[in-house]
Amino acid sequence: MKINIQRLMQNIERYAQIGKTGEIGVERITLSDEDKQARDLLKSQMTAAGLEIYVDEIGNMIGLRRGRQDVPPVAMGSHLDTVYQGGRYDGALGVLAGLEAIQTLNDEGIETEKPIALINFTNEEGVNYAPDMMGSHAFAQLGDLGKILASQSYDDPTKSVDSELQRIGYKGDLKCGDFPLDSFIELHIEQGPVLELEGTDIGAVEMVQGIYWTRYTIQGQANHAGTTPLQYRKDAGYAASEIIKFAGDYVRNSPTQILSTVGTISFEPNAINIVPDKATFTLDLRSVNLETLKDGQEAIDNFANDIIQNSGLSLERDEMVRFSPVQFDDGVVSLIADKAGELGLSVKRMPSGAGHDAQMMASVCPTAMVFVPSVNGISHNVNEFTKEEDLENGANVLLNACFELANR
Ligand code: GLV
Ligand code: MN
Ligand code: MN
Repeated sequence: MKINIQRLMQNIERYAQIGKTGEIGVERITLSDEDKQARDLLKSQMTAAGLEIYVDEIGNMIGLRRGRQDVPPVAMGSHLDTVYQGGRYDGALGVLAGLEAIQTLNDEGIETEKPIALINFTNEEGVNYAPDMMGSHAFAQLGDLGKILASQSYDDPTKSVDSELQRIGYKGDLKCGDFPLDSFIELHIEQGPVLELEGTDIGAVEMVQGIYWTRYTIQGQANHAGTTPLQYRKDAGYAASEIIKFAGDYVRNSPTQILSTVGTISFEPNAINIVPDKATFTLDLRSVNLETLKDGQEAIDNFANDIIQNSGLSLERDEMVRFSPVQFDDGVVSLIADKAGELGLSVKRMPSGAGHDAQMMASVCPTAMVFVPSVNGISHNVNEFTKEEDLENGANVLLNACFELANR
């Protein structure tokens, strides 16, 4: 069975207009007006496809296509939110290809044994509210829902997840987790260079690396840049730079795989001739190995404590996210690889470097992911691009794998 690629491409283009930035980029931050607009469009398309719609307390949207049996559905999905200055495929592909798979079943007049569900998860990206993968995290009941709903916007502490869900009209009634699933498959762009470099069509994703997010706030004392001798300074900016350099060096010298990124930093008062009295930065630390991840975090924290000690500075650490590496279900991974093979596509079993809703769903039901190549491995960037034939291949693998799961 094959999806309708013209319809899928038109739909991707349609969603890419909502929050369009640059030539082909998209900025659709979670719980923003653009997020609401994309959700409203999805709701109308789910309804037109004959799906029953449910919205849960964290704003996850679920569309249900009934099967012959009244049993938990096979689910597909991903997220419609993006990062700042993001691309058109990260997240949207998994939702829109899932919708396309359902529309294809409708076109063919096919009834499946088990129902099929399509899910749009809230705030996968986590660029304005922590944690990332928020909707799937809550769906899987892995965190304290009250705390998650109270999570404040990084930009504006008067806004919480709860207040913004209500504002855009997506605070639903369905209790998080009150929607048992048979299995879950997420189609996503790889967001890295491996498939393209190796000339492979499809990634059958076996695991997702662990993610630790920490915000460090260093407090010092503002003072004159010209008159304050070095030994009398409480320079929060200089201390921050030493910790940032250590985190970068640590991963570069590590014998085991680990990545560190400092993606945000701010100084106060942020003036050219004032020693900063406050420096705030975030650390994104990832590894496929939990021990490596823990060791890295500990080493960076120990170094930060050493820098702060006897300096007159103080340090606060906010552990924003602590997600361990996750293994996917071998049966679903093999099914994805088999379906790709049946479609004449080459397959590589591989880990995921990026975080995904599927990594939360792995604790709910048998789960795995399908990857398609990213041109030049670029993502979280307005120039993120995947070729049409790769989108088509990925959507066909998703359709056929879900179809088989729904008839088992
Ligand atoms: C999600 O996109 C992440 O990996 O940060
Ligand atoms: Mn994504
Ligand atoms: Mn992303």
